[in-house]
Amino acid sequence: MKINANFANLKPSYLFRDIAQKTAEYKAAHPETDIIKMGIGDVTLPLCKAAVTAMEKAVAEMGNKETFHGYPEAFGESFLLEAISNYYKKEMGVRLDTNEICVTCGAKEDVSNILDIFSADNTVLIPDPVYPVYYDTNVMDGRKINFISSNESNSFLPLPDENTKGDIIYLCSPNNPTGAAYTRDQLKIWVDFALSHDAVILYDAAYEIFVSDPDCPRSIFEIEGAEKCAVEFCSFSKTAGFTGTRCGYTVIPSELSFDNTSLLSLWKRRQSTKFNGVAYIIQRGAAAVLSDEGVKQIRENINYYRTNTANMMNTFDKLNIKYYGGKNSPYIWLKCPNNMKSWEFFDLLLTKCGVVGTPGEGFGVNGEGFFRLSGFGDVNRTLEALQRIQKLFE
Ligand code: MLT
Repeated sequence: MKINANFANLKPSYLFRDIAQKTAEYKAAHPETDIIKMGIGDVTLPLCKAAVTAMEKAVAEMGNKETFHGYPEAFGESFLLEAISNYYKKEMGVRLDTNEICVTCGAKEDVSNILDIFSADNTVLIPDPVYPVYYDTNVMDGRKINFISSNESNSFLPLPDENTKGDIIYLCSPNNPTGAAYTRDQLKIWVDFALSHDAVILYDAAYEIFVSDPDCPRSIFEIEGAEKCAVEFCSFSKTAGFTGTRCGYTVIPSELSFDNTSLLSLWKRRQSTKFNGVAYIIQRGAAAVLSDEGVKQIRENINYYRTNTANMMNTFDKLNIKYYGGKNSPYIWLKCPNNMKSWEFFDLLLTKCGVVGTPGEGFGVNGEGFFRLSGFGDVNRTLEALQRIQKLFE
């Protein structure tokens, strides 16, 4: 028996586990420190009332012989597929057939599971910096990886040029970690590039609900031609606080095909073999989130998180610390003061302020010298963290 030797090419541990471990070690050595966590983008507000009510009702159904459900539908229950399709139509003006949506346990799983349907011979194109799952999962499969540089000079929104090469292109907008969001015109450039190079775009839209700029699309399917070159991933984690409840979905247009083969049919073949669907109770909660009342409630939660990003922007403006993001994203991507390295700044904030963030270097080489703070925390705790940071730098 041989193990997958590609794992030797990974960093020993996943970024957010590294941070959790360093934080736990520091806390064990300094139990008196009141630590404020602004590292991993984990939500802090509870599920909205519409979701809770629907899930309670679903639990009661499951406890009754007449209304009990066994295995869920492999690609999602029709009530949730219809709710997602309506949401796209209402919120983004995008028409999706329910057959093109597959409900899953979340975008993190999907952006890596989708690789099962692509040959390991493909070259992958990944922006640097970006969500580390894209890189790690392709390293595990042994694919060749090219990077496209995302940096201050392109406002963290890289575009392809004649040197850009990749068969599988990951894009994340609004971006994790930088918070930058592509405009329609910019995204059209990527769509045209993919179409003319026979490439597929894997579009991570997990943060779509944070887009406030009308020039920035929330779905790649707002762009003409995307239905012939793109797959979209989305999640209820950030939109509706489902990080612990787990539900997401993948959209694959029925006309998307390569080598005369529909990607949707390959994905459904993969899913029906390896996945038994999302729990009925969770799907009821997710569908309720997308009802008119549910959308109103989750928008209130998003506005709460926006208070955090607004407070962060205020503080960093006062301190003259340069930052990106915040406007269309729950993340602030700041330039470490005094030319500090990312992990140096991590140690400084942890030891002097008791504040945990995410070192930019963990998202790629170009993230060195940057630092990500999450706006998903409690408003008062975030203010407390900002006061401590302000004291340190003024
Ligand atoms: C993040 O902090 O980047 C995300 O919460 C991680 C994730 O969604 O897996």
